[in-house]
Amino acid sequence: MAPLRTALVTGANRGIGLALAQALHRQGLRVILGGRELAEARAAAPPGAQALALDLADPGSIARALAELDGAVDVLVNNAGVCPEGDAETVAMEVVRAAFEVHLFGPLALIRGLLPGMRSRGYGRIVNLSSGWGSFAEGLTGPFAYSVSKAALDALTLNLAKDLHGDLKVNACCPGWVRTRMGGDGAPRTPEQGADTPVWLATLPADGPSGGFFRDRKRIAW
Ligand SMILES: NC(=O)c1ccc[n+]([C@@H]2O[C@H](COP(=O)([O-])OP(=O)(O)OC[C@H]3O[C@@H](n4cnc5c(N)ncnc54)[C@H](OP(=O)(O)O)[C@@H]3O)[C@@H](O)[C@H]2O)c1
Repeated sequence: MAPLRTALVTGANRGIGLALAQALHRQGLRVILGGRELAEARAAAPPGAQALALDLADPGSIARALAELDGAVDVLVNNAGVCPEGDAETVAMEVVRAAFEVHLFGPLALIRGLLPGMRSRGYGRIVNLSSGWGSFAEGLTGPFAYSVSKAALDALTLNLAKDLHGDLKVNACCPGWVRTRMGGDGAPRTPEQGADTPVWLATLPADGPSGGFFRDRKRIAW
């Protein structure tokens, strides 16, 4: 029988993160929904799933969450995201810093906290929710803080991949344009459709890819 895997999804109280948590729960994983507001994560959690207070912009919150998790996470999905408006010349510096906290430093702190446990168990899947707006190949055309911090998350993915061996994998993905608070009402995809590629990456078999950037389960250029 396959071992029971535990997955942590950040920003799982709504949007793509919630659809991801629900899909992983349906597949039989033990799912922990990270939420900036614990009550919202609790309310969203499917029966049997856990909720965890986790604010990616607050290093203290991340440290408390890591202490509570005690290394017991096999699948980390860095989904939480913010998309502040503004270009390089005008967006407030603190807004840029906050985007980097949520998209780069928070995920890095979680990875550093959870990789030792994955290494000791010889299994780990790390999935970073990026965006076409974070892709050099697609022109980095989104708002400044968003595009540049997602490009940094992509860089983290590729750099980390060279240090992961055996059944440890890290990949980034773009969910497409998805109907959520971030994506807006005009987006063509449902959160469930947006969750398809990250769920696939979170449950890859041992011979699956690592160090890639994917959309619709196909590799795309960084
Ligand atoms: N929607 C799209 O079209 C699209 C396209 C490309 C990539 N993406 C990426 O997909 C991911 C999910 O996006 P979405 O569309 O589902 O966005 P969303 O509906 O706006 O949800 C964002 C989630 O991130 C959480 N979050 C924001 N700041 C946080 C923080 N400091 N700490 C913890 N959680 C925080 C939010 O929590 P609160 O409820 O507390 O705010 C919410 O749960 C993001 O990384 C986004 O960049 C989305």
